[in-house]
Parts: sequence; C-alpha cells; structure tokens
Amino acid sequence: MIKLGVLISGSGTNLQAIFDSIEKKTLDAEVAVVISNKAEAVGLERAKKAAVPTHFVDHKKFADRASFDSAVVDVLRDHKVDWVVLAGFMRIVTPMLLDSFPNRVVNIHPSLLPAFPGAHAHRDAIAYGVKISGCTVHLVDAGTDTGPILAQAVVPVSEGDDEASLAQKVLYVEHQLLPRVLQQAAEGRISVEPGKDGERARVRIRA
Ligand code: GAR
Repeated sequence: MIKLGVLISGSGTNLQAIFDSIEKKTLDAEVAVVISNKAEAVGLERAKKAAVPTHFVDHKKFADRASFDSAVVDVLRDHKVDWVVLAGFMRIVTPMLLDSFPNRVVNIHPSLLPAFPGAHAHRDAIAYGVKISGCTVHLVDAGTDTGPILAQAVVPVSEGDDEASLAQKVLYVEHQLLPRVLQQAAEGRISVEPGKDGERARVRIRA
C-alpha cells in the first residue's frame, strides 16, 4: 500500500480513475491528499465525495514557482505521501518538489512523448496531422514532459477528429494506464537507472 498525493488543476477524471481502481482493489494505494492550484477544480469535489482531504494552494499568492512548490511539499509531507501524481496539474514543477520526492513524481501527459509536449498536446497533434496519438505516464524531471517514460498507450486519430474528440479518446486510455502504472509503483517494481555518459535515465519495471 502506497500513499499518493494527487495534484490537479481541473476536472480530475484521472483522479476519479484512481479512486475507482482503489475501490475495485486493482490499485493497492490510498489517496492521502488532493491538492489543486485552482479553487474551482471539479476534481476537488470528487475528492470530497471520496472523503479525501483537499487543499487549495493558490499559485498567484507566491512570488515564484519554488515557493509555491515549497507550500505544496509541506502539505504532501503533512500527509506522509510516498508518491506524487500530477493528474492534469497544469503547472511546471521545480527541483524544490522533485528533490523532496526523488524519482517519486509521476505525470500523465496526453500525447505520445516526445511528440507534442506542453499545454496544447491535442491541438498540436491535430495540426500536425498524426494518425496515432495517445498518452504517456512518465517520471518527472526538471524539463517539461521530458522525464523517463514508464508507459504509453495509443489511440487512432480519425479524419473527423478535432481537439475535443481526440481528448475524449485519449482520456479513455489515460484512465486505464495511470492506475496500472501506480499499481506497479505500489508493488515496488519501478526502479530508475541513471543515464551514463550523458544518456537519458531509464526506468526498469520488474516483471
Ligand atoms: C488529461 O488529459 C491529462 O493528460 C492532461 O490534462 C488532462 C486532465 O484531465 N495533462 C496535461 O496536459 C499536462 N500537461 P483530468 O483533470 O480530467 O484528469
């Protein structure tokens, strides 16, 4: 059993997928706290319904990203979190948070990284004309959507797809993939091999 701290900014359907997997006992975890940088995030309501503590940490009240992250880390530590999950958290995190949870911060991104990092993955994928897209679960490093990849899932992009329909299709596979990776974390199967001679760090998931 691992304790998760889930960071959100919006609707929290990935958070809901985590709750549902815990309920179904396919994920051996407890959501210890949900933190949002947006007061109106629907995900906060989902957390309240699940009787999970919530915190709104307003990024506008902090002078810089590191001091915002420091406040977030305080909340995560108060709740004795083991793993941090960025589930639709639309903020760049700093070494302040990453160094507090080394190799224990996971992000879900709605594209097949390294294609289409950043905040407009679906728009960029449609504009590029790709025929497949999907999602990536990765460990977070200091870059934007650059950390070692844990898992990916693919969806076909159809002729008639727009940003909204692609987002829906990708969310469906996100909801399967994220809890599955978190279960691998819960089973202690994830390890990180640091990159040698300037190569990228890689994750190993033991069978
Ligand atoms: C998800 O599609 C997630 O991959 C994406 O935001 C959505 C959040 O949905 N994250 C990013 O774009 C991060 N760069 P949700 O709030 O319903 O889980």
